[in-house]
Amino acid sequence: MPILDIVKYPEPVLSEPTKPVESFDAGLRELAADMVATMHAAPGIGLAAPQVGRTERLCVLDLSVGENEDELLILVNPRVVEEQGNVREEEGCLSFPDLMIIVPRPERVVVEAQDLDGNPIRVEGEELLARCLHHEIDHLDGVLFIERVSPLKRDLARRKIKRRIQAQDW
Ligand code: NI
Repeated sequence: MPILDIVKYPEPVLSEPTKPVESFDAGLRELAADMVATMHAAPGIGLAAPQVGRTERLCVLDLSVGENEDELLILVNPRVVEEQGNVREEEGCLSFPDLMIIVPRPERVVVEAQDLDGNPIRVEGEELLARCLHHEIDHLDGVLFIERVSPLKRDLARRKIKRRIQAQDW
């Protein structure tokens, strides 16, 4: 399972909506396995296909970062079908190295998706899992976490990133 390169902001692929997966084939399994390996190596708790330069509607999550295989989620064609509450917490993103910002997200979400065989699955998440599910599904819609904060904070984050890119620290 090769470790894939993680695409960083502002690569355009990160802002493009993904395409629904229609073929539940060996290629999809291989991509999912490579994404899990890449997420664990980073290390991170979630990774969406655009972050490895792909356009499939696919994301992987593991709050245990490889410690507990029951916590690994591979979600094909996921969508949020219910959300409740609103919590502001600090979060990061593997496409924004070492940038933490406070982002409002639902406290609880219900997600419907498919597994690698195309079977329907339903995941309920609260707190950190809800945050991570919402963040990864945003990626699949081409939405980045800096777009979930106020224009002022977004501007500050963009300026910080620009300085780091100029300093080759990105
Ligand atoms: Ni992210």
